Amino acid sequence: MKETDLKDLLKDMSLEEKIMQLVQLPGWVFQGDAAVTGLAEATGSERAKMLAGSTLGLWGADRIKALQDAHMKNQPHHIPMLFMLDVIHGHKTVMPCPLGQGATFDPDTVKKGAEVQAKEASADGVQVTFSPMADLVRDARWGRVLESTGEDKYLNSRLVAAMVEGYQGEDPKDADHVAACVKHFAAYGGAEAGRDYTNVELSEHTLREQYLPGYRAGIDAGAKLVMTSFNTLNGIPSSANKWLMRDILRDDMKFDGVLISDWAAIAEIKNWGLSEDFKEASRLALEAGVDIDMCTDCYQNNLEDLLKEGALKEDLIDEAVMRVLKLKNDLGLFEDPYHGADAAKFEKLALSKEHREVARDAARKSFVLLENKNDALPLKAKKLAFIGPYVTDRNLHSTWAISCDENHAISLETAVKELYDGSDVECRFAVGCEMLEDGTELSRETFASKLSDAEKEALLKEALEAAKWADEVVLCLGEDICQSGESTSRVSITLPAPQLALFQEVVKVAKKTVTLIFNGRPLELDDISKKTDALLVCWRPGTEGAHAVTDVISGKFSPQGKLPMSFPYTAAQAPVHYDSYNTGRPKPTEGPSMFTSRFLDCPNEPRYRFGYGLTYSKFEVSAVKLSAEKLEKADAAGITATVSVKNVGNAEATETVQLYIRDMVGSRVRPVKELKGFEKVTLAPGASKEVSFKITEDMLRFWTMNNCFESEAGKFKVFVGLCSCTENAAEFELI
Ligand code: GLC
Repeated sequence: MKETDLKDLLKDMSLEEKIMQLVQLPGWVFQGDAAVTGLAEATGSERAKMLAGSTLGLWGADRIKALQDAHMKNQPHHIPMLFMLDVIHGHKTVMPCPLGQGATFDPDTVKKGAEVQAKEASADGVQVTFSPMADLVRDARWGRVLESTGEDKYLNSRLVAAMVEGYQGEDPKDADHVAACVKHFAAYGGAEAGRDYTNVELSEHTLREQYLPGYRAGIDAGAKLVMTSFNTLNGIPSSANKWLMRDILRDDMKFDGVLISDWAAIAEIKNWGLSEDFKEASRLALEAGVDIDMCTDCYQNNLEDLLKEGALKEDLIDEAVMRVLKLKNDLGLFEDPYHGADAAKFEKLALSKEHREVARDAARKSFVLLENKNDALPLKAKKLAFIGPYVTDRNLHSTWAISCDENHAISLETAVKELYDGSDVECRFAVGCEMLEDGTELSRETFASKLSDAEKEALLKEALEAAKWADEVVLCLGEDICQSGESTSRVSITLPAPQLALFQEVVKVAKKTVTLIFNGRPLELDDISKKTDALLVCWRPGTEGAHAVTDVISGKFSPQGKLPMSFPYTAAQAPVHYDSYNTGRPKPTEGPSMFTSRFLDCPNEPRYRFGYGLTYSKFEVSAVKLSAEKLEKADAAGITATVSVKNVGNAEATETVQLYIRDMVGSRVRPVKELKGFEKVTLAPGASKEVSFKITEDMLRFWTMNNCFESEAGKFKVFVGLCSCTENAAEFELI
């Protein structure tokens, strides 16, 4: 439809019709089995169902077509409804969780994964996905770090943009693509104490420098929607925050797409205490520019009265409705209300060999090798024991893979049997313990043990016998799938007690142990790291996770992942992140540290740092060579930092060469390092390659005391290495 036709349509709509375009009903009011991802009890009267502008939580090509037909038949102007769904890291074929995707440091891989998700979801009737989550995270207590790509603004920006490009393609009207929704605006990851849905206290410069770039990258990549966040930012609930939504999002970031509230977030303006009632909450939200009210009755019950009372202008409603109609038009729904829905196409696409291979490749690239003493990995022995709950548990996806089914995944046991079938390698398998301790609180229920003490004893006995028999033991441990994701904040980020107990017993009798960790967040692994020979973080690896694990532990593929988020010694270190300030009393790397910035009982640094990860080989990086020692602000060509990278090990491997920059002096203090570039390099043993990074003035800008982004002349340090801990540096001056 042409823009002018949309305007004519808007003019012709009744006030009730317009208001209902701003209402999103939960899918269950249409069909009982819709996904439940929120609390509100939004009512779905027959009238509301007839006029609602959108719904969420439904999928299935034929049923969505039928729902669309029914809706358009009754809608006075036959306006199609939008069908939205959380396709966060997979619809049927599930990719690694976003934090695992962050560990790939590979935008192309991430984009490919998003393309697969969009193809499957669109064929299954979905038109909008509530992804990517662009929230920067620094606190492993927060369960939603699972859905983020980590603690660094540059990495987040690159990967968020890749996801938007993958979901939307050149044009989301295309049947293989869906509209993307960047969330949660803004700074939801800064939740106080790592507890979900709390306040976020941020200075403007930290908000602008650290937390906003990820969202901006998604918007610059063309995301059609943005979602508000549950948190207050400095005391103002995001859905009512006019400064954030109008000045920053609309004016500064030039976002002109649809702004949708998070689930019930408009009603929660009242719970926060910013309004006395839902009517005032509705007024504040519309004034702030929130176009769609997700799953509450606020807009549908209050906007008309607010207009009548003169508390709101109809222009605001028209502005919001026009954005919703434009989104529908951008998706081509006025011409083809089914968009990409096609059951036959979906049957062919879902979980296809090609899609599974994309998921398997992404999972392999996401694994981070933290320890590999005496090259314990890849496995070499002929007698192997696989021990732990993840030997058989197929929940390798996450609670945000709401439309997938663990039956589409295979267990590690099955993958290992496939791998060694017909070989001279003998394997034994033992679960060894339950996933969790009895009474463990999970996101939706409390875990109740199903085993007697005798049965637990028997599991342990079987595991220890296998451990004694084997020449190498692979421990398959991790968080339960329901221990990370929304509303799963934890003050203790250790493995579950039964698994820690199993680990301690197995390492006493095993000749050699490899420990695999399946996790949705950084965990406390210090003690494990000291006692195991190899330690591989596998995240929530998705549908092909088990195959990806066997690809790596067998040596077919070397691990190449790098930590997208610091792993603390303890949750009590939170927030811990590599790009911190130097402090006025930096703790010396050796010698006495009295009267310096430190803990008496814990190092300042995390146990494993951002950007860290081993391979099956060894790479050396030469000293940093700069093309010039001075960079003129006006010089668009910039200067170049070059290193030579050499594989001095004996296996082909892929390393991620990272560029960090430190602004030595600023009108406000600057982080000791900031990631400004990365490049993956695959080298055969003995091979080497030059890697160059261009440094331009715009990369050096920050939010100065002039309250604007600008660079400041002075000295800068350039680091190039294989981890944020690198001290391989050179200096230049900006003039
Ligand atoms: C949830 C989440 C948000 C999700 C939305 C719709 O509460 O916060 O990430 O997209 O509701 O399911």
